[in-house]
Amino acid sequence: MDVIIETERLLLRTFTINDASLIYELNIDPEVTRYTHDPIRDIDHAQEVLEKTILPQYALYNHGRWAVHIRSSMQFVGWCGLKYRSELNEVDLGYRFQRQAWGKGYATEAAYACIKYGFEKLGLDRIVGRAETGNAGSCRVLEKCGMKYIGDQVTEGHPARTYELYNPFIPGSGL
Ligand SMILES: CC(C)(COP(=O)(O)OP(=O)(O)OC[C@H]1O[C@@H](n2cnc3c(N)ncnc32)[C@H](O)[C@@H]1OP(=O)(O)O)[C@@H](O)C(=O)NCCC(=O)NCCS
Repeated sequence: MDVIIETERLLLRTFTINDASLIYELNIDPEVTRYTHDPIRDIDHAQEVLEKTILPQYALYNHGRWAVHIRSSMQFVGWCGLKYRSELNEVDLGYRFQRQAWGKGYATEAAYACIKYGFEKLGLDRIVGRAETGNAGSCRVLEKCGMKYIGDQVTEGHPARTYELYNPFIPGSGL
């Protein structure tokens, strides 16, 4: 298992080619994809997302969306991580957790650790977070991580709030 980050309660690892069922089961809940608008059709679709979207990011950018497990039980609870968006030339913070794992602070704990990893280990200059306007939980996660709200925009047809954070370890970053 390729562990990238450990926090007090969580472990973040790279997904592997064998994780399609985890992606499928996470996204089968309509509440989980309510604001992301990307339901998974079947296990083949999950495999395709894994192979074409999630796994290539690791090799290309040395980061990506990572599987999140509870350290004490190794139960899979969702994913969190950084994703380079070439069309915007920016690194995006994202997360998605099983409904039974919501409300325990896991998203904030994992998201904060990913930001720290991005700045300290990867030396990124800036990290961006976007959440659909109605997705109060996701907006709150970004705010709790110290990200700064910079405005609204329409992303893929849906109104979204955009947040950003500059690397405090890079002098002049964000000026
Ligand atoms: C958004 C999501 C990741 C939040 O996960 P979570 O583990 O419940 O988040 P946390 O427990 O870390 O909570 C963070 C804060 O958000 C608040 N929050 C969580 N859900 C909320 C909701 N529906 N409405 C208002 N506030 C909410 C929490 O109360 C907490 O704030 P507080 O500490 O001030 O009380 C989770 O709901 C999820 O996976 N949703 C589906 C996927 C998704 O929408 N991803 C984001 C796409 S932009």
